[in-house]
Amino acid sequence: MENQADPIRMTAIVPFFTEGGRVSRNDFAALCEDGSVLESRKRTGAAKVIEVRDRQAGTLIIKAWHPKRRITSARLYPYDLRFRHNAAKLRALGFNAPLVRGWGGIGSGSTRFICYEALPGASLRSLIPRVDLRGAAGFISRLHDAGVDFRSLHMGNILLSGSANYGLIDLTDCRFSSRPLSLKRRIDRLIYLCTHKREIGFMSADDRWSTFLDAYCEAAGTEPTELIQHAGRHAGWASLSHAGS
Ligand SMILES: Nc1ncnc2c1ncn2[C@@H]1O[C@H](COP(=O)(O)OP(=O)(O)OP(=O)(O)O)[C@@H](O)[C@H]1O
Ligand SMILES: [Mg+2]
Repeated sequence: MENQADPIRMTAIVPFFTEGGRVSRNDFAALCEDGSVLESRKRTGAAKVIEVRDRQAGTLIIKAWHPKRRITSARLYPYDLRFRHNAAKLRALGFNAPLVRGWGGIGSGSTRFICYEALPGASLRSLIPRVDLRGAAGFISRLHDAGVDFRSLHMGNILLSGSANYGLIDLTDCRFSSRPLSLKRRIDRLIYLCTHKREIGFMSADDRWSTFLDAYCEAAGTEPTELIQHAGRHAGWASLSHAGS
């Protein structure tokens, strides 16, 4: 009898379902050819984020880290491992984070990758100007109350599906604590979000930043005056409050 091949076994994604193994450079090139390259490294043009649609496994994202230096903290704690740990912790806390399907190395060097199921939804950045700032503030305050310090907090890394189903991507830089975040940490992250170079134009127009921070304070039960007092010492604060004027 003829052996009926499983269609999923025929696609370029298959080698990436490994748990810690290595795929070849050719496997990676075939994957880039098969899928869509969403992000590349500016300097070298190397593919960084690739989306692959698979009939059986759905939409998968492969993210590769090409080390810039020979000695980096990634040697001690590889990015794919950080991503995997952080995704598991976020999910355990009840937040939407990608489901990891594979991880490992590319070629014989120190390039690493992670393969995960795409979260449903669109990034807040792609929704500008129709971003529900109050909803986003409520989500971020829940994250902070749960002790999650998501350090890459900007609108490109927060996804929204439906009206209030938020999720996070880009999970390598995340810390967890059993206690809610301090006010200082919260402000650092909020100002980073408001003043990110891709968003500052949007956030400073019509004083959207103040709507956002007001909603955050309401959700977190923080006095706005206290937040403003601390934020005033922050280097990014002046650029924000003057950007719109
Ligand atoms: N789980 C996911 N679900 C849906 N889309 C995703 C997912 N992960 C990544 N994407 C898409 O890929 C894009 C880039 O992904 P990501 O934020 O992980 O990388 P990056 O911002 O390019 O990397 P870095 O911040 O490390 O330079 C996102 O803007 C988003 O459009
Ligand atoms: Mg990102």
